[in-house]
Amino acid sequence: MSRAHPDLAPLAFLVGTWRGTGSGRYPTIEPFEYVEEAVFTPGPGKPFIAYRQRTRRAGADEPLHSESGYIRPGGPDGVELIIAQPTGIVEVHTGEIGRDEVCFRSEDVGLSPTAVEVSRVERRISVVGDTMRYRLWMAAVGQPFQVHLEAELTRV
Ligand code: HEM
Repeated sequence: MSRAHPDLAPLAFLVGTWRGTGSGRYPTIEPFEYVEEAVFTPGPGKPFIAYRQRTRRAGADEPLHSESGYIRPGGPDGVELIIAQPTGIVEVHTGEIGRDEVCFRSEDVGLSPTAVEVSRVERRISVVGDTMRYRLWMAAVGQPFQVHLEAELTRV
């Protein structure tokens, strides 16, 4: 973090490479288990953290979801997140930074013409020691807002 912008100090707990496993569910799909690598990298001297993750189906050589974006400090205890997904979905979030925890709520979900319908997303990430846990909720494909993902990753 030595070259990181000072505004990133409250988000320093995210920085690093994290690997672990997660599970997903939604009323319209079969539940699934996945393996994930997530990388949070401070922009050198700039007030953002670059974020990318990729996943595979657990126990199989099958790529699942991947995404990348940026986390930006936004005002006192405020934070912004923008994410692009290869599925044609773009998320724009605002949120709050807590103690070793950050919560994001979507302000906008953008869909390319062929993307599946997603109208609302929330993401909560917490870190205790070298363990990161996150949960993701969404309202999509006509279903009410509910959990899609839960995962636990370890700093490597
Ligand atoms: C760790 C990240 C994620 C993984 C591993 C994952 C995995 C999956 C899997 C395996 C499915 C079942 C159908 C398929 O194979 O495509 C699915 C469906 C879906 N996911 Fe995810 N997903 C992830 C993140 C997201 C995110 C961030 C969003 C939206 C913000 C999202 C939205 C959806 C939607 C809308 C469906 C389709 C539901 C339907 O067609 O009925 N997923 N996901």
